[in-house]
Amino acid sequence: MNETDSTHTAINLELRKFVAPEFIFGIDARKLAGRYAQQLGGRKALVVTDSGVIKSGWTLEVTNSLENAGIPFTLYSDVSPNPRDKEVMRGAAFYQEEGCNLIVAVGGGSVLDCAKGIGIVSTNKGNILSYEGVDQIKVPMPPLICVPTTGGTSADVSQFAIINNTGELVKIAIISKAVVPDVALIDPVTLTTMDPYLTACTGMDALVHAIEAFVSNASSPFTDVHALEGIRLISSNLVSSVQMPDNIDLRGKIMLGSLEAGLAFSNASLGGVHAMAHSLGGFKDLPHGECNAMLLRFVMDFNFNVTPEKYLRIGEAMGLDLRGMTMSHKKATILNQIEHIARTIGINKTLGGSGVRSVDVSQLATKAIQDPCIVTNPRHPKKRDIEVIYEEAL
Ligand SMILES: [Fe+2]
Repeated sequence: MNETDSTHTAINLELRKFVAPEFIFGIDARKLAGRYAQQLGGRKALVVTDSGVIKSGWTLEVTNSLENAGIPFTLYSDVSPNPRDKEVMRGAAFYQEEGCNLIVAVGGGSVLDCAKGIGIVSTNKGNILSYEGVDQIKVPMPPLICVPTTGGTSADVSQFAIINNTGELVKIAIISKAVVPDVALIDPVTLTTMDPYLTACTGMDALVHAIEAFVSNASSPFTDVHALEGIRLISSNLVSSVQMPDNIDLRGKIMLGSLEAGLAFSNASLGGVHAMAHSLGGFKDLPHGECNAMLLRFVMDFNFNVTPEKYLRIGEAMGLDLRGMTMSHKKATILNQIEHIARTIGINKTLGGSGVRSVDVSQLATKAIQDPCIVTNPRHPKKRDIEVIYEEAL
């Protein structure tokens, strides 16, 4: 028997739930927005997007689809990377002024998260920052259709919305079944306009989603299947996808891997990499996937020994032959492969190179340890542990 074969190991029988929206996966899924808006009773749609996605042409295709279905719409494109609390609040006010009753989000994770924020505030009122944490949303959002245009975020299927608290320079995580979209239209064609670095960062984000979901304290047999398949698809296709951006088969594999990772982490939650990346990304306004990639190896190193059998299964899903190695050699091989993928696709920054100084580490750790994602990290870190990991990544 293979030493990591799970056939004869006990399965987890603790209570677990699994939530997923309706999603359509495949070429031209984006063009179904109008039909779904109609089905959901749309009278007027707020289309949330950003200038880059408008330039790429995807927003126009989605609004054409709304027009063809006879659904009036208005655009809201005041969304930054790492969407800000104030952008959510302005969007919610605009939604009300325009008399919308449905939201269509076309874009990457920032756009989708901003759209979720607008939805939350438009029915629950108050400030978006007051909904931080788990299950704080009492009233359902308006119907939400998501058309993701990056292969990583999975906000289109997840119970997460991440918003930048600009006053405190930290990202907050809103985790609730209420922010799962009504439908996700997941179209690999939209990935073809991503530049190589965006492909790299969003792909690494998806890989981290799958890895953190698999080792999470809240994982289940349902999430494990998706997490391992996400790891397999992304680790074996991300480098080629960055090198051959027009190859739709590779884009499809990354989009599918991202979806698998999204289904896993939406239900199993995440861990230390995301807790630390949220703190870092809010502090320095860096791309989310880049933050994850800079931290992943060090958090895996910290966690490895509490659940080595899970990390070995991750290594196998990455296609590594670990037979005959000592445990420390296996660990080094897995961590080196993670680093190899990140470097090959052009992510070779350090925290220090991104402007983080030693004096910032304490403040970063204070915020990371309060992030809801830390709860499901397989090893419970103290603040000092988090500081050490940030210092290693400097
Ligand atoms: Fe992420």
